[in-house]
Amino acid sequence: MKDYSEYFKGPSLRDAKHRGKDEIHHIDDAYEVPADMIGIGKGQKYFIQTYGCQANERDGETLAGILESLGYEATDEIKDAQVVLLNTCAIRENAEEKVFGKIGYLKKVKRTNPNVIFGICGCMAQEEVVIQKILEKHQQVDMIFGTHNIHRLPVLLKQAMLDKEMVLEVWSKEGDVIENLPSHRAHPYKAWVNIMYGCNKFCTYCIVPYTRGKERSRLKNEIIEEVNELKAQGYQEITLLGQNVNSYGKDFDDGYNFASLLADVAQTGIPRIRFTTSHPWDFTDDMIDTIAQYDNIMPAIHLPVQSGNSEVLKRMGRRYSREQYLELFDKIKTKIPDCTITTDIIVGFPGETDEQFEDTITLYEHCEYDLAYTFIYSPRAGTPAAKMEDDIDIHTKEQRLYRLNDLVNEKALKQNQKYLDEVVEVLVEGTSKKDDNMLTGYTRHQKLINFKGNQDHIGQIVPVKVTEVKTWALKGEEIE
Ligand code: SAH
Ligand code: SF4
Ligand code: F3S
Repeated sequence: MKDYSEYFKGPSLRDAKHRGKDEIHHIDDAYEVPADMIGIGKGQKYFIQTYGCQANERDGETLAGILESLGYEATDEIKDAQVVLLNTCAIRENAEEKVFGKIGYLKKVKRTNPNVIFGICGCMAQEEVVIQKILEKHQQVDMIFGTHNIHRLPVLLKQAMLDKEMVLEVWSKEGDVIENLPSHRAHPYKAWVNIMYGCNKFCTYCIVPYTRGKERSRLKNEIIEEVNELKAQGYQEITLLGQNVNSYGKDFDDGYNFASLLADVAQTGIPRIRFTTSHPWDFTDDMIDTIAQYDNIMPAIHLPVQSGNSEVLKRMGRRYSREQYLELFDKIKTKIPDCTITTDIIVGFPGETDEQFEDTITLYEHCEYDLAYTFIYSPRAGTPAAKMEDDIDIHTKEQRLYRLNDLVNEKALKQNQKYLDEVVEVLVEGTSKKDDNMLTGYTRHQKLINFKGNQDHIGQIVPVKVTEVKTWALKGEEIE
């Protein structure tokens, strides 16, 4: 087999783990389009598939914006595209398997259309095991670039067009904050706004701190300006994004923090503000008070617990105990009584006993979450948990997941029942995929609702009476 190590300008999880004291640079002129790339995509099409979290979706919008600035147009059909990008996620093994399935399929596409440029980016591009596998088995890939290299797309694309060799550029360095990139937003009425990048929490099971680098905050003025622009364009809702938004501003030295930012964003007057994700460990009283104070900060909080057992939480490196989590949970519910809370849970963490799993069940019974995303633990190479002894068989893990999911559904329905016969405010997003005569949207509490209403109100916030309640959605009728 060919030895790729010589020209391996690829990632290193070990380097990515490093958290230096280097100053974070906020750069607003990093984006460059080589002169001969201007208009290169005229009359051609691009296809991007994004996997994973909202941060990755937002990156997908930037990639789309960059390709459009070169003249390419979007298509939903891979076979019509001259540039195909898979914007990948590395969070669990099954996420990676999906991507490898697609990479295999693209071999066929390449056979019928040898001129297509086929690129892999996103979090999987930051993992050396993935890069090795692509280099060894998937020569149909023309270009691999990492999460810190997105702004380099025009340069890398040019190289891929000229070069026969695979173009590989993945920086594992701690990262800067790059501003002024083009973007094509996916939705016309709601938008994602990055407020920070990276993660320093290093939960022991998680790959994100390695694939996304050091925590770094965008400057307040950049964020507020973006929100004001979105408001002026008629956007009704923004979601502030960060792997842990509570860490916003910790890299500044002036005490400006997430609570301050929330208040400033609320004062722009944009109708709806959401944020994700907040870590229970540093969820401050100031944050709770600010959410309670402003009517345009939506009372719907995602507060991942991961496990209901303190010993497991300790091994996960979550930095809170069951008791501390419950204290925070109850405080939020007291100060913001109508607040809905959703969560993430991992079952089958290495060594999790039946008793420890029962603690997750009893915590769930107490919290009665509106919804939960539940996962079987998936070992990620390079993380500390991947080295822990895991003597729980997969069958047991699956049984735990099924039991937990039954509880999730039961509580979701119970929480939704509160809204029956109530009038809720809905941001109308469009017509329902299943039924053209129905409209669809989300309530303030982030409940999906399908309803009969006026199509002219798409893009507006309207009152809807809830007439039926299900586990996954509400049904209703718009009040004229
Ligand atoms: N920054 C977010 C999490 C992003 S990942 C936060 O801390 O809330 C989303 C969810 O994926 C996590 O909350 C966790 O429940 C799950 N997850 C992360 N790594 C995992 C792994 N190795 N196996 C299974 N689930 C995992
Ligand atoms: Fe992963 Fe933990 Fe960071 Fe969330 S806070 S991204 S779970 S390391
Ligand atoms: Fe996946 Fe990367 Fe997001 S691993 S969940 S796309 S930060």
